Formats: sequence, C-alpha cells, structure tokens
Amino acid sequence: MEFSKRLDLFGAEVFAALNEKRRALEAEGRRVFDLSVGTPDFKPSAHIMDALVESAKDTDNWKYSLHDKDELLDAVCAYYKDRYGVEGVGRDMIMSCRGTQEGMLWPLMALVDPGDLVLVPDPCYPVFQNATLLAGAKCAYYPLTAEHDFLPYVAGIDPEVADAAKAMIVSLPANPVGSVGTPEVYAQIIEFAREHDIVVIHDNAYSDIVFDGPAGGSFLAYPGAREVGVEFLSLSKSFNVTGMRLSFLIGRPDIVAAAKKLRGQVDFGMFYPEQDVAIAALTGPREQVEEQRMMYQERRDALCDGLEGIGWERPNAHGSMFVWARLPHGRRDSMAFALELMEKSGVIVTPGASFGPSGEGFVRMALVLPPERIREAVAAIAAAGL
Ligand SMILES: Cc1ncc(COP(=O)(O)O)c(C=O)c1O
Repeated sequence: MEFSKRLDLFGAEVFAALNEKRRALEAEGRRVFDLSVGTPDFKPSAHIMDALVESAKDTDNWKYSLHDKDELLDAVCAYYKDRYGVEGVGRDMIMSCRGTQEGMLWPLMALVDPGDLVLVPDPCYPVFQNATLLAGAKCAYYPLTAEHDFLPYVAGIDPEVADAAKAMIVSLPANPVGSVGTPEVYAQIIEFAREHDIVVIHDNAYSDIVFDGPAGGSFLAYPGAREVGVEFLSLSKSFNVTGMRLSFLIGRPDIVAAAKKLRGQVDFGMFYPEQDVAIAALTGPREQVEEQRMMYQERRDALCDGLEGIGWERPNAHGSMFVWARLPHGRRDSMAFALELMEKSGVIVTPGASFGPSGEGFVRMALVLPPERIREAVAAIAAAGL
C-alpha cells in the first residue's frame, strides 16, 4: 500500500524536536520557561462556562446541530456592530466553523482549483500555508520584513503573480511577527485585491490583543472590504476558549455560501451547547477582555524591556500574543539558537524559520507567563551568555 502524495506536502513538526528536548530537561529536574506555544494561561469567564453547563442539560441540544441558530447569527451581527462598528452584517454573511485553523480550509477549497496561486505571508501562522496546500493550490509568499514594519507591502508583489493569484491571506495583528494593521495598509490591500481580482481572507484572531492604544478592529470595517473578502472571527484568544473550537467566517455572501456548501458535505455544524457558549461570549460583558489586554501589555513590556536591557534589539511587539525577536550578536540559525537557548537557560522559544524563510534570524516568544516569570526567564537568558 502507498499513502497519498498529499502527505508529502508536510514535513516534520518543529514542536516535536522542541518537546523532546523539553522532556529531557524536565527529566533532569531543570527549571523550564515555556514561551513556545500560544495557549492562553487566562481562564474563561464564569458566564461562558455556565452557558455550557446549562445548555448541556437540555437533551434537545444533543441532537444533530444542522444549522447555526438564528440567535447565534444575530449575536455575531450585533457583536460586529457594537464591538467593531461594522453595520449591516447579515445572517447570510456568517458561517460557524470549528476554529479558524480548520475553518481556513473551506473558503480556500471553495475558491481554488489545483495549481492555482494563493498569496500567503512569510513568515506566517502555518495553517495559512498548510490549508492552501491541502486545497491543492500553490503558495506565493509575500514577505513581512522589518523594512516595511512587518506589514504586507502589496507594491512589492510582482504584478504577474498578483494577476495569477486567486486569494490572499492577511492576518493582522500578526502571528508570529506581532505587527498591527493600519488604515493605510488595509486600503492598499483592498485596492490591490480589486485591481487583480483577488479574494482577501482576513484572519482576525488577535483584535483583542493590541497594545499602546485602542483595541483592534475588523477588516470588514474598511471601505470596500466586504466586496473583496471575508474574515475569520475566532473566539479562542479573546475569551480563552481554545479547546472548544469556536470561530466564524464572515463577509461576502457568495464566498460564505460556497464555503458552507463544501463544509456541509462532511460536517453537521457546531454542537448546540457550543453555540450557546458562543452566544454568551459575544453578548456578555467584555471587561475581562479589556483587563486581559492590559495584562498582555504588561507581559510584553516585561519581555521587551528585559531583552533590550540585556543587549537584544527591541523586538517587534505591537499586537497578538507574540513577541518577534531578532537573534542577538548577528546570529542567524534560529533552530540552533532555540535549542542552545533551551539547553543553557531552560527558556523555550519557537525558531523563526519554522514560520517561513523570512523568519530566519528571529525567534517567537509567546506571552503566556506572568510578568515576574518573564523577568526570571530574561535573567536566565542573560545568565546563559548567548
Ligand atoms: C493567526 C492565528 N489564527 C488562528 C489561530 C487559531 O484560531 P482557532 O483556535 O480559532 O483555530 C491562531 C492560534 O494560534 C493564530 O495565531
């Protein structure tokens, strides 16, 4: 028997190598600071957990959940209006999905044919590349570099590539590079998409983790956005519900309908108690979300001030739960650096190269420890003498 060629599209998981090393350190009883994975250490609010418990007691809620409930769709519409100031999101512009990670596949599958091109950021959250490949398309990478503040620079994309591309994945605030979109950048992306007939798929996982100013917004708030694209609204990071897989695809109705048609072939939809959790999150109080944003900012300050204090370049860290740090002393090999750092300091970071070639020379650090632990981690890095 031979497995499909599809399997050959994906290499070994970088976290496997890091985990193996981590287990070895822990077995030796070493102190470890894990800044590698972006799983929030904050808890979901009580009203969100209560909604699950209450809803799960209703036996009707255990049947096949063939539709997104109207109440859920209306909660998303109201959230877009209250939270992002986006008017006019209709029920036909929304599809629930099991997290953005899996959800990303559906609009791509609906848009591309084998061999088509999708513009993907480099470096990027790996699912942008992986879902593109699973959908049978090819990735045309556009770089996110220091020269352009780690933001998409559409003027730098080859017009022939742009004409050939069917879709462009954009995600700001950006994992792993920590940059935040500006109105100018979004206007350029929308104009570029119009000019080259490209669908924009915007992943908005971190609109509630934006630093040094007001909370983040929505791509759909920009003029022309809903004619050229769709957005993923994930509840994972805003509400600390990563395990439940609550996300929505929102935007141009024909794209949402096409994605629904494909998804409906293999998936019955979001479990009703999960729909009730999403309603509770979207319609409930948002003070905790704002407090959390400030706590992430304190962590960001502790890490960036600390690294700068020990001679690193100040990292890029304007939003998302990640800090993007250039390796110190001109070092370039991010995997070798990450392994050496772990061995010598117990601090686990993710090598930049695992997010794409433009990530080489950097490491990503997740803001998943309280400020005092982050300061201890920085002290351990300093003591390692790298
Ligand atoms: C940019 C980005 N999008 C999406 C996700 C995951 O979202 P979900 O939990 O909805 O799949 C992550 C998680 O790390 C992320 O960094």
